[in-house]
Amino acid sequence: MMITGLDHIAIAVPDLEKAISRFMEDFGLAFNGKEDVKSAKTSTAFFPLDKTQIELVHPLNGEGPIQKYIEKKGGGMHHLCFRSDNIEEDIERLTAKGYQFLSDAPTIGAHNCKVIFIHPKSCDGVLIELNQSMDH
Ligand code: CO
Repeated sequence: MMITGLDHIAIAVPDLEKAISRFMEDFGLAFNGKEDVKSAKTSTAFFPLDKTQIELVHPLNGEGPIQKYIEKKGGGMHHLCFRSDNIEEDIERLTAKGYQFLSDAPTIGAHNCKVIFIHPKSCDGVLIELNQSMDH
C-alpha cells in the first residue's frame, strides 16, 4: 500500500483538437489516443512520457466539472495524479489522517483505472487524483 509514481498531469483545455495538435506537432510528443470518460463527463487525450503522461481534459458534451473549470478559468493546470498499488488502502489511510475526498469510493476513469480525487482543500489548493490500474 503506497504511492508508486506520478501517473499523469492533467491540463484542462477549451479546444481539445487544437491542444492535441500542439502537443503532437509543436511539442513532438507521441499521441496515445483519445478516450471519452462518461462517468467524469470528459474527453481525454494522453501523451505518454517516460514514467508519466500529460493528460488533456475537455468537457464531454459541453457539461460536467471540466466545463465549469473552463468557464471560470479558461483552461489551466487541473490536477496531479499519483499511481497507487492499493487505492482502497490508501483512501483508508489518508481518510484516517483527515484527508477529504470528492467521492466516497473510487470510480472507473480513463484506461480502466480505479480513480478518486482528494479535495483541494486537503492539499493546499491542488487537486490530486489517485489511480490504480485494473489491468494487472
Ligand atoms: Co486524471
